[in-house]
Amino acid sequence: MTDSLTPAFVALDLDTLAEAPGRVVVLADADGRLDKGARRINRLTRGALARLVESEKFAKSKPGDSFAMDWPTGMAAEAVQVVRIDRKMGADDARKAGGAIGKEGLGKPVLVLAGSLRHIPEIALGAMLRAYDFSDHKTGEDDKKAPGSLTFAVAKPEVLTAQAGDLAAVASGVFLARDLVNEPANVLSTTEFARRIEGLRDLGVEVEILEEAELEKLGMGALLGVGQGSESPSKLAVMQWSGGKKGTAPLALVGKGVVFDTGGISLKPALGMEEMTMDMGGAGTVAGVMKALALRKAPANVVGLVGLVENMPDGRAQRPGDVVKSMKGDTIEVINTDAEGRLVLADVLWYAQERFKPAGVIDLATLTGACVIALGHENGGVFSNDDEFCKTFLKAADTEGEGAWRLPLGEAYDKQLKSRVADMKNVGGRPGGAITAAQFLKRFVKDDTPWIHLDIAGVASRSEDTVLAPKGATGWFVRSLDRLVRDTCEG
Ligand code: BES
Ligand code: ZN
Ligand code: ZN
Repeated sequence: MTDSLTPAFVALDLDTLAEAPGRVVVLADADGRLDKGARRINRLTRGALARLVESEKFAKSKPGDSFAMDWPTGMAAEAVQVVRIDRKMGADDARKAGGAIGKEGLGKPVLVLAGSLRHIPEIALGAMLRAYDFSDHKTGEDDKKAPGSLTFAVAKPEVLTAQAGDLAAVASGVFLARDLVNEPANVLSTTEFARRIEGLRDLGVEVEILEEAELEKLGMGALLGVGQGSESPSKLAVMQWSGGKKGTAPLALVGKGVVFDTGGISLKPALGMEEMTMDMGGAGTVAGVMKALALRKAPANVVGLVGLVENMPDGRAQRPGDVVKSMKGDTIEVINTDAEGRLVLADVLWYAQERFKPAGVIDLATLTGACVIALGHENGGVFSNDDEFCKTFLKAADTEGEGAWRLPLGEAYDKQLKSRVADMKNVGGRPGGAITAAQFLKRFVKDDTPWIHLDIAGVASRSEDTVLAPKGATGWFVRSLDRLVRDTCEG
């Protein structure tokens, strides 16, 4: 687990630069112009900084590229890091520049000379997010990153200081989602997941854990069928953040929390199966958003509901051909036990609407390989029954730079879900696999409930480093959803 740092914003004090410990970061455009702080660094290093930014190499660099001047003469710092920016940059490039700072680690004191640049909060957030590190299961001393500090020397420290807490709140939410997704399934059982969610009580989130007996009473046959072959008991975790006006209908966030997906009796191939530790990504994102909202004391009403199950083969496991009854009352023929996420979500979606009468529902799930084929790893799939709601979400995702792409729904796809023996079957064949999965979920959404389904199978975890995260969990959509709540539920 990495705790996110809270950045500090201070006024520039030129006379302390020579003695600044750790790393000093200069943000420079390709025009070679140096601001006040950078000019002092240049003087201290006897012109080395100017030689760098006037070099051909620097001219050819792209925003976000980074150059190191290690053990610079005339300074106490271990390094001056020069990050190429574009002074007219947008939020995305600002986060990228921040990413370059965070990538080098924040384990030592880091002082960023940001002056009066635009998008300083985005630079800070980029640095915080990229500095994430999951080393809980490494035993070597070198693998443990010491907590450092992140300070920005800026023109308007008061204005930025007022935003620092919110930045740290969002980063902490992203880190919780990443920790949960990165955690192996022998550690993150359904019980341990529930325990970590209970930790949110300390922040003022009301948490309930519904156990199997209660889920049975509620008639959640679809969810329970999935977990039936596992030693880990199935659970439904309900998180309520009630920071808004009393009586205002909440936004409901629903997450798929399959702590491990072997495929069940429809067993997955061995190659790559270990990746299915991330099959609780939807639930992890929901928990992350709830944490961010609570930490920044969002004036909004939001409920998070996550179905926690493990999909295992076993003598008691669900079989292909089994028919289960959902809480809604519809029956489902389980053709393939590997299409389990939609079975879990069917019951959690229904429960969320029956209990909370939400103003809108957004579900998140690492739902289909087909979505990965359709969109790759740069966009999450977005499905919705409400154009306005969908537009607001897409705008929030765009603001946060988290790729999101709308895919269609349509009644015509329903014929792929027809079952001979039950009201529907749980798979619709290969064509449009992400769409038929969404079409399945739609059956458990009431007509008058604005709903968005986010298929995050391709984006929840990545096998390569990205601008804002080391390889592994990304926390994709935690920031978009926090932004959506700010834009639509607050005040
Ligand atoms: N958890 C998987 C989907 C998935 C695939 C997530 C790749 C992340 C990366 C899901 O439960 C699943 O197995 N879906 C099947 C559905 C099929 C049997 C209709 C799939 O996508 O192959
Ligand atoms: Zn599956
Ligand atoms: Zn799955």
